[in-house]
Amino acid sequence: MGKLTIAIDGHASTGKSSIAKKLAKSLGYLYINSGSMYRAVTLYAIENNLLELIDLDINKFIKKLKENKIYFKKNENKSISEIYLNKKNIENEIKSLRVSQKVSLIAAVPEIRKEMVKLQRNIDRTKGVVMDGRDIGSVVFPDADIKLFLTASPDIRAKRRHNEMINDGETVNFEDVLENILVRDDLDTTRKDSPLIIEKDAVVIDNSYLSIEDQLAKILALINQKIKL
Ligand code: DC
Repeated sequence: MGKLTIAIDGHASTGKSSIAKKLAKSLGYLYINSGSMYRAVTLYAIENNLLELIDLDINKFIKKLKENKIYFKKNENKSISEIYLNKKNIENEIKSLRVSQKVSLIAAVPEIRKEMVKLQRNIDRTKGVVMDGRDIGSVVFPDADIKLFLTASPDIRAKRRHNEMINDGETVNFEDVLENILVRDDLDTTRKDSPLIIEKDAVVIDNSYLSIEDQLAKILALINQKIKL
């Protein structure tokens, strides 16, 4: 068997990107965070005052969007791919609160999803790829060799996220973080276009009580099983 396509979907704040990054590194595969592409579109819309245009004239917005280049380039020091918008590394900017607050709305627009899925499918898969998101196994790569669905209890996800934020020096209260996670789960699973679903052939991993190392071992075992088939 050649190099695999590995799709990782799941609920918000389940550590998808941490696992996906580690997995890609250990396999020597390309890692693509599809959420960062929706975040790049959001940043572009905010910086160019185009949020209103999305509601008013989506075709005009898409036309403008296509004049820009969203792509990934490997950071040789970290040996991980990072996202660029028109030659500018936006890896940090896309994680800002102003982007996080708007991205779910942007990711629900079908015309925008169509463009992002095109870009995602254009990615070279010949050297193996791990892609994480919400619709990778269902829409982007229904032919993926391995489909994983990560989940964990909302309370545990909120505790992890809350700790992260406190460590980053943010002042937030736990209830607000939990509320945000529940709202995001609701938006992701109830939107009309490409909602988050568990594919029939996906392996569900509830990582409420699993360390990253435990999960990695579990996933590598699945991959070995697959390669032997
Ligand atoms: O994983 P994330 O929080 O960076 O994702 C940002 C937003 O994009 C979030 O609202 C979910 C959405 N998303 C999506 O709809 N489809 C994907 N394949 C990836 C992310």
